[in-house]
Amino acid sequence: MYLVFLGAPGAGKGTQATRVCEKYNIPHISTGDILRANIKAGTPLGVEAKGYIDKGLLVPDEVVIGLVKDRLAQEDCKQGFLLDGFPRTLEQAKALNGFARITNAVNIEVDEELVVKRIAGRRMCKCGESYHISWYNSDVCAKCGSKLYQRDDDKEQTVKARLDVYKKQTAPLIEYYAQTGVLSNVDGAQEMQKVFEDIVRVIDDND
Ligand code: AP5
Ligand code: MG
Repeated sequence: MYLVFLGAPGAGKGTQATRVCEKYNIPHISTGDILRANIKAGTPLGVEAKGYIDKGLLVPDEVVIGLVKDRLAQEDCKQGFLLDGFPRTLEQAKALNGFARITNAVNIEVDEELVVKRIAGRRMCKCGESYHISWYNSDVCAKCGSKLYQRDDDKEQTVKARLDVYKKQTAPLIEYYAQTGVLSNVDGAQEMQKVFEDIVRVIDDND
């Protein structure tokens, strides 16, 4: 299974990707996570990416496409993978089409008001888990015990820019994948377990 998750910032892509990848035993490839790891390590890619991410803008296509192409060429992606946060532009989707055959594009639908609330209350762990202050009231990770933190790009002004970028550059991909016949929409406003069950159902139905 070769999966893509679509959805606005804060829709729950990362949250669901962790669970879906555990269930199907496939690698979770989040371009956002890869870029943030590079920023933390101070690599040249990280230095370049930070300038864009801090403004809520997309990192240039050629940079991200190269990154994903290299990652998908690795052995652990042969039997399947889940892409979270890629593709994000039509250019990226077309490039991906040249080096992978996507079997399911799952669009996690959540309205703008709710994504703003989700992002504002999000707390992250360095192990990749994310929490929300509405249902988690500790400042350490339940999985690994590390201290939780807020993402730099989760500030109000940056979130606004990210949502604008999503509407202009990423939302058109819903139509792109609908036309290739692999799109499924899932109601992401439901509680987490229900969203998970719906995602599993559309993946299994399509298989
Ligand atoms: P990226 O890291 O991909 O961020 P994003 O798309 O903005 O999405 P988020 O990670 O903010 O949201 P999510 O959908 O994963 O939500 P989550 O599960 O955490 O990208 C960051 C930046 O990197 C971009 O702005 C760009 O600059 C750059 N970049 C990355 N990929 C790129 C690409 N391909 N091209 C160019 N640039 C790229 O959930 C959010 C919150 O809600 C959490 O607190 C969670 O606990 C809570 N929550 C989730 N589901 C539920 C639920 N069902 N009920 C209640 N709470 C829930
Ligand atoms: Mg995410």
